[in-house]
Amino acid sequence: MRLPPQVTMVEVGPRDGLQNEPQAASVETRIALINKLADAGLSRIEAGSFVSPKWVPQMADTDKVLGGLKPKKGLRYAVLTPNMRGFEDAVAAGADEVAIFGAASETFSQKNINCSIEESFQRFSPIATAAKQKGIAVRGYVSCVLGCPYEGEVELSAVATVARGLLEMGAVEISLGDTTGVGTPARAQAMIEAVVQEVPVEKLAAHFHDTYGQALANILSVMEKGIAIIDSSVAGLGGCPYARGAAGNVASEDVLYMLQGLGVESGVDLAKLVAAGDFICAELGRQSQSKVALAWGGRC
Ligand code: HMG
Ligand code: MG
Repeated sequence: MRLPPQVTMVEVGPRDGLQNEPQAASVETRIALINKLADAGLSRIEAGSFVSPKWVPQMADTDKVLGGLKPKKGLRYAVLTPNMRGFEDAVAAGADEVAIFGAASETFSQKNINCSIEESFQRFSPIATAAKQKGIAVRGYVSCVLGCPYEGEVELSAVATVARGLLEMGAVEISLGDTTGVGTPARAQAMIEAVVQEVPVEKLAAHFHDTYGQALANILSVMEKGIAIIDSSVAGLGGCPYARGAAGNVASEDVLYMLQGLGVESGVDLAKLVAAGDFICAELGRQSQSKVALAWGGRC
C-alpha cells in the first residue's frame, strides 16, 4: 500500500459540525473550541460561515468568532462565503481563507444555495477574483460527489467538470464532499480517478461524512490514490442542513488515530484533540461520535 507520508488535516467541526447542531453554540464556546483545536496542532480550521442567518442560524455571528481569535503563525482560519456579500463580510472580519461551495447535483445546489450550478459559478467568480487581489486563499467545495440526497447517483464526469470549473476560477484547492456519506471505497477511488483527469491530485481534499460508517475506509482508499488533504470534524459533529439524514463528518480523532497507526505524519496531538472533542460534547450535551474518544473513556 503506497500512502502519502504526510497529510494535512482540515478541521471543519466549528463550521460543518456546529452548523447542524439543534441548538446554536455561543460565540464564546465556538471561540474556545477553535482555540483548543489550534492548540492541538491543527493548521487549518473552518471557523464558520457568512451565509444567511435565516438559512443557517447556527453560523450567525461568525464575524464575532473571527474577532475573538488570535492570529497564530502557520494557522489559517477559513469561512464559507456563498456570494460577494459574504466575502466582503469575511474580509472585514479578518478571514485568512474563504470557501466557495458548489455541487455536482443541480437539485442539491438549489436546495443548498438557492441557485443552479451555473448561477453559482456566476456568484463565485467575483469572489475568486477579489480574493486573489487581496491575497486570500480560496477553497472550492464540490458537494454530492458520491451521490445526491435528491437525485441519487451522480455522474463522476459532473464531479470532475465542477471541480475543474472551480480550479479555473482560481480556487487553490478543491474539497470533494460525500455530503450524505453514501460512498464506498471502490466508488471513491473511481471518483478520484475521474477528477484527477481535470485537477492535479495535490490540489484535492477528501471530505467524507460517516452516515453509513464508510468514511475511514473511504479515506484510506483515496489516500492510496494520492490524496493528502483530509477534512474531518472533532467528535464527528455535524451533517448538512440541506441533506436530510446526513450524519456528521468523519471524526477527527478517528482519522488521526488511523494516520498514526499508518505512520503518516499530521502534526496533530491526539490527546489534545480528544480533549477538544470532550469540551464541545460537554457544552452541547451530546455524545461524541468518535470511536477513539469513546474508547478513551472521556466524558462524552
Ligand atoms: P438567496 O435567498 O438566494 O439570496 O440565498 P438573496 O440574495 O435573495 O438573500 C436572501 C436573504 O439572505 C436576504 O435577507 C439577504 O440579506 C440574506 P432577507 O432580506 O431575507 O432578510 N443574505 C445574507 N445574509 C448574510 N450573509 C450573506 C447573505 N447573502 C444573502 N452572505 C444564500 C442565497 C446562499 C444566501 C442562502 O441560500 C444561504 O445562506 N444558504 C445556506 C447555505 C449553507 O450554509 N449551507 C450549508 C453549508 S454547505 C455544506 O455543508 C456542504 C459542505 O460541507 C461539503 C459537503 O459536505 O458536501 C461544504
Ligand atoms: Mg460537509
